[in-house]
Amino acid sequence: MIKTIGVVTSGGDAPGMNAAIRAVTRVGHSRGLQVIGFERGWEGLLSNCYKKLTPRSVGGIIQLGGTMLHTLRCPTFEEPGGVEKGAETLRQNNVDALVVIGGDGSFRGALSLGKVSEALMIGIPATIDNDVYGTDETIGFDTAVNTAVSTIDKIRDTAISHERLFIVEVMGRKRGFLALEVGLSVGAEVILIPEAPMTLEDIMEINEENARKGKRAGIVVAAEGFGDSNKLAHDLQNRINSEVRLSIIGYAQRGGSPTARSRLLASLFAERAVELLCEGKGNVAVGLQKGAIACVELQSAANKRKELDLRMLKVAEMLSI
Ligand code: F6P
Repeated sequence: MIKTIGVVTSGGDAPGMNAAIRAVTRVGHSRGLQVIGFERGWEGLLSNCYKKLTPRSVGGIIQLGGTMLHTLRCPTFEEPGGVEKGAETLRQNNVDALVVIGGDGSFRGALSLGKVSEALMIGIPATIDNDVYGTDETIGFDTAVNTAVSTIDKIRDTAISHERLFIVEVMGRKRGFLALEVGLSVGAEVILIPEAPMTLEDIMEINEENARKGKRAGIVVAAEGFGDSNKLAHDLQNRINSEVRLSIIGYAQRGGSPTARSRLLASLFAERAVELLCEGKGNVAVGLQKGAIACVELQSAANKRKELDLRMLKVAEMLSI
């Protein structure tokens, strides 16, 4: 029987984290549980910094981007003594279970903490990168896709007016999920992702072919993790006749009011997470699998590589003729 659950948001923020905090608190409350929120990611567990969460204190946040608990990348948590201090904080506050809202890095923190703590650990996947194994979608991804798409639609207007080739860099340090979905949705002429290497010559060839067909403007969507976008824009400008411009969308993709889909996922993931904890089940991460809320071992969610559907790249190619 658990009595108190802790919540923490960790790593890069994602729109919908607040909706998840709200849902964990309210479902927890309806199950008779106390809920406390650790502040600034794992730092809150190192410094015993938390606030009590009540159904009222999480009112009015479902529509807000960011996280009311703040977040931090906290490498010291996994250094010697870090997780032991975290476990001590949980013990001191009688926390029986911890809900970790974040990406695979945060889940690895939870795994390490779970090894030295008696509290149950459960993960809720939230990152705009959508790169967590065991879930088809993470909280915040849909919002980030829509933010990037509406920005690139505007860039397309000016690209057409000036007949320019635009490189638009979207986030995704290691993986191309965001770039792929955004690229397909904006009708990008080229999509550059770490999972599908492309040379400068390949891009030039596509550009020349498009010019022959009468296309005098173009959008290249590049994942941050593909490489140095500044260098790419510079090198392209030196090799092709059309004008090249670079636009880096950046952190705007991490903020903003979550879309209905991000709020919905956050609410459904959180509800399932609290229910699982009430059943005494920990060491798992919730997720979306083929349209249904499911769960996987935390170990897998933290460490396995999620496959990206490269057929989408082919579809994008077919559609951007
Ligand atoms: O949270 C994921 C992410 O937005 C990546 O796409 C990006 O590369 C990274 O975080 C940026 O991290 P930071 O906030 O530490 O600069």
